[in-house]
Order: sequence, then structure tokens, then C-alpha cells
Amino acid sequence: MSERVGHTLVLGTTRVGKTRLAEILIEQDIRRGDGPVIVFDPKSDAGLLTRMYMAAKRMGREDDFYVFHLGFPDISARYNAVGNFARITEVASRISGQLSSEGNSAAFKEFAWRFINIVARALVSLGQRPDYNNILRYVTDIEPLFCEYLEWWLPRNAEQGWVEDINDMTHDAEKQYKSNPRLAKHANARTEALRKYVEQMGVSDPIVLGLLSALRYDRTYFDKLVASLLPLLEKLTTGKIGKLIAPDYFDVNDDRPIFDWTQIIRKRGIVYVGLDAMTDTEVASAVGNSMFSDLVSTSGMIYKHGFQHGMLDGKANAMPKICLHADEFNELMGDEFLPMVNKSGGSGMQITAYTQSRGDIEARLGNAAKARQVEGNFNNLIMLRVKEKDTAELLTNQLPEVEISQKMTVSGASDSSDTENNIDFTSSTQDRISMLRVPMLEPSHVTALPKGQAFCLLDGGHLWKVRFPLPVEDDEEMPENLQALTKEMEKNYHTAEAWWV
Ligand SMILES: Nc1ncnc2c1ncn2[C@@H]1O[C@H](COP(=O)(O)OP(=O)(O)OP(=O)(O)O)[C@@H](O)[C@H]1O
Ligand SMILES: [Mg+2]
Repeated sequence: MSERVGHTLVLGTTRVGKTRLAEILIEQDIRRGDGPVIVFDPKSDAGLLTRMYMAAKRMGREDDFYVFHLGFPDISARYNAVGNFARITEVASRISGQLSSEGNSAAFKEFAWRFINIVARALVSLGQRPDYNNILRYVTDIEPLFCEYLEWWLPRNAEQGWVEDINDMTHDAEKQYKSNPRLAKHANARTEALRKYVEQMGVSDPIVLGLLSALRYDRTYFDKLVASLLPLLEKLTTGKIGKLIAPDYFDVNDDRPIFDWTQIIRKRGIVYVGLDAMTDTEVASAVGNSMFSDLVSTSGMIYKHGFQHGMLDGKANAMPKICLHADEFNELMGDEFLPMVNKSGGSGMQITAYTQSRGDIEARLGNAAKARQVEGNFNNLIMLRVKEKDTAELLTNQLPEVEISQKMTVSGASDSSDTENNIDFTSSTQDRISMLRVPMLEPSHVTALPKGQAFCLLDGGHLWKVRFPLPVEDDEEMPENLQALTKEMEKNYHTAEAWWV
């Protein structure tokens, strides 16, 4: 247990028991009940969800059990992926982080970041919580936000008489717009007046300046710049998913719970996050990633102030014990994962990450050096059967060479052809023992492990060979809606095993 804060990496090729192992660890974490248990499952494994529910039930904690599932919005809890942040710039980073940064796209990504940041800052100043919906609305058309912000800002900052001045300017603009509609830059004459007024004022308020610069973009040029951002935002806000990840806090008829990480951590909640990556990878990875970075930012807060910061009778610097399990974690990982594994141990987070191969991590991060850095941050390694030699070497290269003694038997006989002599033949047998240095394990040992068996490197380089039990399935006492859900999940679960059936 004391080693768990050093994070654990579980590697194993498909169908060798990663998720079943996760079930065992998760059940124990829930049983121990000394901290929140958060599980990310991009593949939506029905057995895993059932196990978590049953474990929570056995502990009498069904009420603290949350299911968030992109594939089943009707029974899923709701969660605003961009509504909580320690720094406001995180909103922009979480959304634009999903855009490609290869080649030319990098510049567009930076632009999208800045634009979202302008919108997010204005929204927060207006007392509105950013979500995918309102960001999409204002990225498509910044004008209403500009007007709304200035109507809020001007009474606080402008000189007396600004109302009259702006009314006059609006009249002028209206006249001008009527006489020559082609000169109309904005949908509204009042926008023109507000813009002129603040330009004359020579303001230094960064939000006003940001909004002004956003307003000045030429429409066609601007559309090109956000060309990749809009489809992403639209995917995230379309249909039932939109209501799930951009919840309407004021809708009293919607009784699906809304959760956020701080609350989960305080009440030691048990959260299952199913991402339905098989159906829509892009949405799954965008949401998974944002949830992850939200968790990073929350864990940063905890690191600084403890998890009871701001609570009545809260202890300063109390650290929770957060058990985070990330199945198929290469699907979830983004650049923000690095600081998370790096520092989150200090905030009580113990990450157990499950993935198939080293190559997956590298493919996701796009960079071998970064992948090595991620690997380097996991102190514990559990390796089930893997396919690639390279992956097996992650374990075998960490092991020392050992000295073994080798016994060699030499025996021989030689005939004598000398007829004068009584000796017909001589024979000899020797046992030679020699010392030999060999690697403790060869990659081929790892690539030939049976299902459910593993080598573990724990406790500062202690090697263990283990066999995990296969937990029996139990799902008798699942509530009906969850049973329906797991049935659906089983149907949709794809594996390469028995593909011919
Ligand atoms: N400890 C074990 N002992 C015996 N058999 C096992 C064990 N763990 C898993 N298996 C067998 O392997 C199968 C696949 O296990 P599991 O779903 O955990 O694999 P996985 O590595 O998560 O695969 P995937 O890549 O599909 O997620 C199980 O259905 C079970 O039959
Ligand atoms: Mg699995």
C-alpha cells in the first residue's frame, strides 16, 4: 500500500486480464473506503461497472456511486468538463488541447486558444459558468457577448454621460447603416456605437481589449482560423451528449446528478466514467481528456491547500487518498498527463494505469522522449503477457544480471588398438561447474506468460512472479436500469477474440 502512491503501470496485450486485474484492485480500494475511487474506462467493460456497483453496494455506499457514461446519456450523471478550474486559462487549454498541433495546424490551435480564452474570461466576469454551449455560441458570434460585457462594464468604468453619448452614436450608426447597408460591419448599430466609444476611451481593461480585437476580425478570415474548432465544439454539444457535459444547472426537472471532482473527493465518492470510445473516438477523447485535466487541476489545488480547504471545521493541508484507475489509458492521455503523474503523488493521488504496449503511449504523445518520461514516473510495474519485445524490455532492462552456475558433464572413452597391452579402452567422466552471468528474465519469458499471470516489479525493484485469481461474476442485485445498461455494454464490446462467431 505504501508503494501505491508511486503509481502503478499495468501492461498487457489484449485479452490477457488487464481489466479483470483492475476489478480486483478496485474492489479492494472500495472496500478499504479510505478515499475516493475514480475509474476511467474508455472501452466500457460491463464486468467492470458491475463489479464497482456491487462493491459499493456491499459497503452500503450505493448513494455515493456515480456512473458517467457518454454512450448512455439517459441514466448518466452530468458533469461540466470546463466549468471548474483553478486558473481561467485552463478552459481554453482543455478545449483547444484537443485540436491537432501538427504542422500548420499549430498556429490555428494557438489562435483558437486565444479566442476561447477571451470568451471564457468575459463569461466568468459576467458571472456565468463557461460550458461547451456558451463557448460555441460566442465563438460563432462574438457580438452579443461584446455588447453584454460592455453593458456590464461601462456603468462601472465609463465617465458620466456615457449613456447619452452611446445613444447618439447609435443613431449616427443607424443612419449610416440605412443609407449604405454595405458599410454595416456589425449586425447591430449599437455594437458599432459601443465599439467606437470604447476605442475613444483608450481602455486598458484586458477583457475589453480582447473582445475588441475579436470583434475586428474579418468574418471570412476568422472562419478559416476556427475551422477545426467549430466541428469539435459542435460534436460536443449536439444532442443528448451536450446536456450531459454542459449541464443546465437551472433545470429543476432533470434529476440526473451533476458532479465535480472537489465534491467527489470530499465525500469519497466512487465514480465510473465510461467513455464509449468505440463509437466516437473524438468525443470520447475530448471529454476524457478534459475530465483528466480537471482532475489534475483539482489535485493541484489539493496539493496547495488540502482537500478540506474552505470547509467548516476543515483541516488545513489534509491530503485525501485518491485511487485513480485508468483502463486503456493511452486513450485518455494528453500533455497534461505528464504533470499529473509527476506531481500528483504529493496530493494523495495513486494512479493505476492499464495499457497494451509502450508503443501506444508513444503514439498518443507523438514523441518518444515524452513517452519515456511518462513511463519513468511509474514506480511500480505489473506486466502481463505482452506482444512486443520492446514492451517486454521495459521490465527486463530494469532487472539485474544474475550469476548462475552451469554444470557441464564431459564423458568419453577411447579404445586402445595396442594388442600387446591389456588395456582395451580408457574412459573418463568429468563434472565441470562454471559461473555464468545471464539476464534474470528474457523478453521471451514475458511474451509467453499465460492469461492472468504476471511479473511485477514492486517495492523498489523487487521482482515477483504472480498469478491473479479470476473473479467470479456477480450481478444479481443490480438495479434494473444498470442491468439494462450493462447488457447493452456487453453487446457493444468488441474484441478480437472469437471474431468468427
Ligand atoms: N486471472 C485470470 N485467470 C484466468 N483467466 C483470466 C484471468 N484474467 C483474465 N482471464 C481471461 O481473459 C479474458 C480477458 O480478460 P480481460 O477482459 O481482463 O482482458 P483485457 O486485457 O482487459 O482485454 P481488452 O484488451 O479486451 O481490454 C477473461 O474473460 C478471462 O477469460
Ligand atoms: Mg480491458
